[in-house]
Amino acid sequence: MEEIAEAKQKIEELRAAINYHNYRYYVLDSPEISDDEYDELMLELKHLEAEHPELITPDSPTQRVGAPPIEAFGVVEHPQPLLSLANAFSYEDLAAWHKRASKLLAGRHFDLVCEPKIDGLAVALAYVDGLLATGATRGDGYRGENITQNLRTIRSVPLSVPKEAPPRFEVRGEVYLPKSGFKRLNEERAKEGLPLFANPRNAAAGSVRQLDSSITARRPLDIFIYALGWAEGKAVPDTHWEIMQYLKSLGFKINPDIALCHTIDEVEGYHRTWVENRENLPYEADGMVAKVNPIAFQEELGTVAHEPRWAIAYKFPAIQGTTRLVNIGINVGRTGSLNPYAILEPVRVGGVVISQAALHNEEDIHRKDIRIGDTVIVQRAGEVIPEIVSPVVSRRTGEEKVFLMPSRCPVCGSEVIKPQGEAMHRCTNAACPSQALERIKHFVTRGAMDIDGVGEKLCQALFQAGLIKEAADLYYLTKEQLLGLERMADKSVSNVLKSIEGSKNRPLARIIFALGILHVGDEYAELLAEQFHSIDQLANASQEELSFIASIGPKIAGSIVAFFRQEGNRRIIEKLRQAGVKLEKERAEEVKPEGLPLAGVEFVLTGTLESFTRQEAEARVKTLGGKAGSDVTKKTSYVVVGADPGSKLAKAGKLGIKTLSEAEFFELLNQAAGTS
Ligand code: IVH
Repeated sequence: MEEIAEAKQKIEELRAAINYHNYRYYVLDSPEISDDEYDELMLELKHLEAEHPELITPDSPTQRVGAPPIEAFGVVEHPQPLLSLANAFSYEDLAAWHKRASKLLAGRHFDLVCEPKIDGLAVALAYVDGLLATGATRGDGYRGENITQNLRTIRSVPLSVPKEAPPRFEVRGEVYLPKSGFKRLNEERAKEGLPLFANPRNAAAGSVRQLDSSITARRPLDIFIYALGWAEGKAVPDTHWEIMQYLKSLGFKINPDIALCHTIDEVEGYHRTWVENRENLPYEADGMVAKVNPIAFQEELGTVAHEPRWAIAYKFPAIQGTTRLVNIGINVGRTGSLNPYAILEPVRVGGVVISQAALHNEEDIHRKDIRIGDTVIVQRAGEVIPEIVSPVVSRRTGEEKVFLMPSRCPVCGSEVIKPQGEAMHRCTNAACPSQALERIKHFVTRGAMDIDGVGEKLCQALFQAGLIKEAADLYYLTKEQLLGLERMADKSVSNVLKSIEGSKNRPLARIIFALGILHVGDEYAELLAEQFHSIDQLANASQEELSFIASIGPKIAGSIVAFFRQEGNRRIIEKLRQAGVKLEKERAEEVKPEGLPLAGVEFVLTGTLESFTRQEAEARVKTLGGKAGSDVTKKTSYVVVGADPGSKLAKAGKLGIKTLSEAEFFELLNQAAGTS
């Protein structure tokens, strides 16, 4: 007994020492002992824990890589959505953002907290009763992947927090690979003959999404915490700046270059400093983030379309380089569009090797006068695909060739046309293998049928093996067929079949989007699902009927009619029906979003609003369950009157509909948001 008590005490001492040195090394970047001394402590702890396995706890430093590989990530619901950020590209953009926020805050002064914007991967870490409980990716903002095991391997992620911490809280931050770690990783991969990562962001994302956490553990990942998501059971500071200091005191790694600015000119100064010094940062940053300091003000400002009004990403200017355009390649997309891309002599731009760039269409290539063989200026801006800014005409030799779109599809050899008024050339063969495959890939994506586990690679393998020719064939796959594919075992096959089965009940809008009708993106799919009860009803709608729907013009209406006229598409729909895929709305989709505060309330806007764009105002109304109408009718609940109102105001008067000023409208939305 005594021996166990002794071992327990020693284990606790060792853990405390190791945690402390971990923190010095990984969070503060200022170790107090040598690596050898640290390894010795760790070894001693491992020995003791091996002798007394009953004393192992999940927050022991030995448990950072303790879990066996998993088959797939679970899903984590984010109690508060993880938002994205609006961008500013100039001082004017920044000043306009600040002015608008100040106005919404009725001119009250506020400080701003500035930080570099790290080019990595957003994660949320939830702590319960002092221990790290879950770590998740951002996902679609509402639901992410459970990557707890992987995040545990990052030494700067605390596995436990001091008892002063709130009993339940969540922090958010960016996981990234430092430039040095990225370089090292790629050097190792080159030695092993493995494909190299294109940039630190991809490498970080790839590392964090490993099913085997021991692989993640070998990647030199790091994290900066940039926000408190939520906290329960204990009061937390009421400004962002103090919250960050508080999180630091709890052991989290926060960016050492965080700064508190009092004026917008100070923010501009901060931006300038880092534009000039970004090369010296040990990680890739594509801009800086400015956040309104008082939390109460953040809450007042709120969020529009996933973007908080209280924060903005002020981007660094794009990084440019010069190289040779070796050739122009062509991809055939799902709607048959011929997408040209530049094949470049590899060039380093801002620490990243670029060998391809986007070339939107033939007109764009000619407008910029880009010729094959040209020396060109390429530009990289953060995560976006690099693009060609212009040719260097003075470097021409006369050997350069003007690019012409082929008249035959490079994949299937069918005729290529360029519909009038469109920028893209298109392959006319709906059965073109490239189109067919791209359509299947689109069908399974997140915004569409969201068939988890069926990604691009599996689609390609299934297609190449001749097991699927079109998306509907997915629902007829058998276990035996899947087992016949490379790297598919019992468990993964049953997961794939389960997610295919699970996708049979998606809302109508998703199916409309998944069908891949030309010009019908997710927003139009939503709109169509509001107007029609089923795919059949949509398929039978005439061009005129469709054109009646506000914001659907003749081009989209024509494309929908043409889609359903095609025999092949009708066949796909029949196959989906036979397989039991739901092709109509359920009652639940029909009824008003009853639970939401503005359910059944219809707003019509007239004139210009100062603090919202029309889309933003409509988006806010919709998220609160209300409707945004385009005409004043007896059903209209309120007409919101902006500057220079149109005839709708008069109509509201005639019908006796209540009007709201912009301020009243804003007030009403805020009240509604408070009750939701
Ligand atoms: S604050 C509500 N601070 O940028 C805004 N974000 O484009 C919360 N990011 O998904 C974000 N560095 O992953 C914030 N210092 C920083 C950041 C940062 C990188 C990422 C973040 C977010 C994305 C938005």
